[in-house]
Amino acid sequence: MADEQLPNDRLPDDRLPDYAHCLQLQHAAFATDLREMLEDLLRACPEPASGGREIADIACGDGFFSRLLAEIDPRNRVVGLDVDEAYLAVARRDSPARLSARLSFQNCDLLEPEQAERFAEAFDVVFCIDSLESIEDHAGLLRQMVRLCRPGGVVIVTETDNLHDLIGSWPPETENLLHRLEWEGLADQEKEGYAFPRYASALLRSAGLADLTVRSYTFDRSGPFDEPLKAWLGEQFRERLDNLSRGTAAERAELRRHLHPAGEDYFANSPHALLTYLRFCILGRKPDVAAESHEVAW
Ligand SMILES: C[S@@+](CC[C@H](N)C(=O)[O-])C[C@H]1O[C@@H](n2cnc3c(N)ncnc32)[C@H](O)[C@@H]1O
Repeated sequence: MADEQLPNDRLPDDRLPDYAHCLQLQHAAFATDLREMLEDLLRACPEPASGGREIADIACGDGFFSRLLAEIDPRNRVVGLDVDEAYLAVARRDSPARLSARLSFQNCDLLEPEQAERFAEAFDVVFCIDSLESIEDHAGLLRQMVRLCRPGGVVIVTETDNLHDLIGSWPPETENLLHRLEWEGLADQEKEGYAFPRYASALLRSAGLADLTVRSYTFDRSGPFDEPLKAWLGEQFRERLDNLSRGTAAERAELRRHLHPAGEDYFANSPHALLTYLRFCILGRKPDVAAESHEVAW
């Protein structure tokens, strides 16, 4: 796969997960906001005496965030880890040569402790961005993130809460209906991923992290919406409406009217549309047991 010539203008959709196209559109629509979010998060992490940070971007997908992390500070060294070879091939292909000394992508199944062990305590900061929802064993993944982190380092999970991710200028009844139908259609184990930020504190604490903090980031847009935003919203709502397993024909028609790009009152077509996209990041510190027990002894 890594040796194949992939088309330059698009991901090899046939080999990537179904959600890959939507993620790519999201990155394009919010590239500047996402970069600023990462800059702010890195400012919250202690800087090692040596200067730059060793950073892991686990479940890195196409490497979009790994590249940003390397670009933000020329002293950072970043490793993107993922289990999907097709995604890793795209990540390597799309990473500029100027970053190659500080950015690499490696295959690693984070749920296989013996695979992840070669990176044990190798990083000052360990990110997992928008991936919890697609990985079932949240506790297992968080344990591995902590294992990869150096004592005193920081683990950061960023996720949306699907009950409160998009606030737009559509009728409130439409939003209530969408969330009710989505929630009712979820199996029990999927509920944690759907609304991860509110479960995060307990999960991160049981993985051994301390000093948990939450940061939220809002990306605001007012109409007329630009094409990258419209492309992402269209894909996002088409997918969410297609995936509904609940609801009467009338309820589905009501959702389609306001939220589907082909709907007669599709909110994003209005030049006066408003949208806020809300993301949560949860940060936890890996205790430095040796240093902290020394402090107590004093
Ligand atoms: C929703 S994507 C997010 C990708 C990327 N973080 C982003 O935001 O663009 C989830 C990623 O998790 C990866 N993944 C799933 N299970 C994994 C595992 N056990 N070990 C490593 N990566 C895994 C998938 O291959 C996929 O790239």
